[in-house]
Amino acid sequence: MRKILAITDIHMRSHGRTIIGLNPLTQFQNALSHAHKNHPDAEHLILMGDLTHSGHIDEFKMIKDAIVDYPIPITFMLGNHDRRDNFATVFPNIAMTPTAHLQTRIDLGDDVILCLDTLDGPPYPQHHHAGRLCADRLNWLTDQLKTCAHKRVSIFMHHPPHDVGFAGMDAIKLQNPTDLFTITENHPEIRHVFAGHIHRTISGHTNGVGFTIFKSTCHQMPMTLDADDSSLSVPEPAAYGIILLTPDSIIAHSEDYELAIQPDGPTSDALPD
Ligand SMILES: [Fe+2]
Repeated sequence: MRKILAITDIHMRSHGRTIIGLNPLTQFQNALSHAHKNHPDAEHLILMGDLTHSGHIDEFKMIKDAIVDYPIPITFMLGNHDRRDNFATVFPNIAMTPTAHLQTRIDLGDDVILCLDTLDGPPYPQHHHAGRLCADRLNWLTDQLKTCAHKRVSIFMHHPPHDVGFAGMDAIKLQNPTDLFTITENHPEIRHVFAGHIHRTISGHTNGVGFTIFKSTCHQMPMTLDADDSSLSVPEPAAYGIILLTPDSIIAHSEDYELAIQPDGPTSDALPD
């Protein structure tokens, strides 16, 4: 069994600025610390976009400083709050595709993880938060799949390509889902889609593919399905994802690490005989 970790929607802010009273840096550091302590056997960490709240260079630098000592390989993804040029300025050694998108392939034995870049831009119109996969990025995906026929593929993307039932978030999902599902329908080796963006734990099945969406390490989406406002936030417990890859299964756990801090370790609820 192989284990990878997934952290999404960090929303880093500089100068101690908070989001509904939560400090994104502290939240992220606590997630990293908890994951490191409890999952030293994890092989890889994927940061699934919305690394920053405003896409500023100083925010990306804070991400870089926070992960400097993390002992396993880290793959970066971008979300609608990020800016590709500023990311590249702070992380000049992170490889982009030939078309300058942040898309990455991770090979883990019989499993292949393909991380897509759904940030729509440049340009980056103000208040535009929907995602898109342009022809260049879709062609990259198709090229990668040419060597995955006998593999088991998981796709990671910041924006879900499907509705999740939150009216406000469904309006800013991936804007060209049919282009992606045309590919997944022709590639049964694609077994699962992992996403962020919604700030809530959600799982299901769509267009023949299973999906899992992880919570943010900072603010969460309230359970108000009919609300049109995509910026609604509540300070519910933060989480990160733990993904287990076995010969038979792709298993996704969501760890509410703020609730899981138990100084004395877990206790049994077993009644005495
Ligand atoms: Fe986000």
